Amino acid sequence: MVDSTTANQGLLASATEHLDESVLITDAVLELPGPRIVYVNRAFTRMTGYAPEEVLGKTPRILQGPKTDRAVLDRLRAQLARGVRFEGQTINYRKDGAPFVIRWYIEALRDTDGVIRHFMAVQRDVTEQIRDSRHRRRLETALARSSSLVVMFDDAGALLYCNAACDKLINGGRAGWPRQNTVAKQSARSEPGNVPKQKIWQGVLRPRSRATLNEIRLQLREATSWRGEVELRDGAASPLLLDTVVVPVFDELVPGNGRPDCFVAIAVDITRNRRLEAIAEAHNLADSVGYVFAGIRHELGNPINSIKAAVTLLHENLSSLPAERVDSYLERVLGEIERVEYLLDALRGFSLFQAPELEPIDLGPFLDRFISLIQTDLDRQGVSTSSELAEPVLVVHADPRALHQVLLNLVTNAIDALAGRPNPAISFAARGFGEHVYLAIADNGLGISDEDAVNIFRPFFSTKHHGSGLGLAISRKLVSQMNGTLEVESRVRRGTTFTLGLDRAPKAP
Ligand SMILES: Nc1ncnc2c1ncn2[C@@H]1O[C@H](COP(=O)(O)OP(=O)(O)OP(=O)(O)O)[C@@H](O)[C@H]1O
Ligand SMILES: [Mg+2]
Repeated sequence: MVDSTTANQGLLASATEHLDESVLITDAVLELPGPRIVYVNRAFTRMTGYAPEEVLGKTPRILQGPKTDRAVLDRLRAQLARGVRFEGQTINYRKDGAPFVIRWYIEALRDTDGVIRHFMAVQRDVTEQIRDSRHRRRLETALARSSSLVVMFDDAGALLYCNAACDKLINGGRAGWPRQNTVAKQSARSEPGNVPKQKIWQGVLRPRSRATLNEIRLQLREATSWRGEVELRDGAASPLLLDTVVVPVFDELVPGNGRPDCFVAIAVDITRNRRLEAIAEAHNLADSVGYVFAGIRHELGNPINSIKAAVTLLHENLSSLPAERVDSYLERVLGEIERVEYLLDALRGFSLFQAPELEPIDLGPFLDRFISLIQTDLDRQGVSTSSELAEPVLVVHADPRALHQVLLNLVTNAIDALAGRPNPAISFAARGFGEHVYLAIADNGLGISDEDAVNIFRPFFSTKHHGSGLGLAISRKLVSQMNGTLEVESRVRRGTTFTLGLDRAPKAP
């Protein structure tokens, strides 16, 4: 019996020597000068620099110093006096005077009669851990305050983290955008650790095309970074454009497998810059007089040549021609003259609204009136319409005549694109976003190919037999004069959405 106890004690002492945690045992005399150290293990020496013989018989207070937390020590004393376990954290000092942070607990060791004979302190140096977490807190603060969007996601594209700027844009910023499309639906607030189960390229950022998405995926698969423009996800046409960098992040803890642990996307909102650029470009394009005149010469030249040929023929052969032939030539002449008139009419748009007079326009009633004016035309073509405002009242700064002209051009194009399509429909949807209001005019017509899409705003670009190709050029010019933007998004055989962005005006009284 005695033998086995002694053997156990030897075993325990040797095990304690091998612990990573520092172990310090004192007697249980709490009166001043306080308990004395009766045992320390090797880890204690490693941690503090004191050899056992330097501390045995002394008080643990030798480890304390000016930055040691007095409140923690008071609590320690009170708890030891009551014989209950103590846990705490404070600053201690090594033999060479260097401070370090310890986290430790103290247990009262009782004899067989239940009397406390010793206290055992188990201590761990947590300086590095605290430094790390302080560093992490600083980084988190920087991320939270950053005006750039920071999003982390895993291999499968599932969101792991998004910072406050991202959260604000997705959840808070866009009054009137459908909330089911946002992170809000998935989690009340995307705190770290409480992250929405959403896919980055569907739920948050939206590459401008499938090709872009594939390019990003390919880059990421090869663990290289990608930079380009993506949009912030919303309904049909997004007003938010983001300059985005995506970089792979490798986990140092799993070295050598070559796979990124996660990806970080940092995105800066460049919508405003783009908007100003677009306005400037629209001005430039419509003002490049030479370009416009070349187009006019071409457009007027064809019908005039055709008229001249027909009239010359009539002039030389009038007496010998049968009446039907004369009629058909005259019809051709009248048709060409009509075309010239149409062209001249369209060109008026370039100068008609030299200085638009901006006034607050209540979009709801304006749209109702506009739709009722074109209703007969729409009915004749069997085109159904719908209109929807995301807010009860949306007031824009615009010139009513210019706005009417622009909507008319867009609707005329939509009707053309809907010819022969199943269930032809045009929808108007308006929503406010910050200082702007976006009106989307969408059709489910034949759509615009990528090659054509880059040209449609150029004067005289038309894919129609009798189109002048001026409708959109004039519309964009009118819109830019109202400090607005006109953007297009289209899918072949699916349909086209033009989004008109205008300044929001204070509510009309
Ligand atoms: N909603 C739409 N759906 C499909 N294509 C469209 C749409 N709107 C415009 N387009 C394309 O853009 C081109 C240019 O349009 P734009 O209004 O400037 O000229 P147009 O309609 O051809 O002629 P105009 O309006 O002067 O009679 C069109 O020819 C067409 O190819
Ligand atoms: Mg047109």
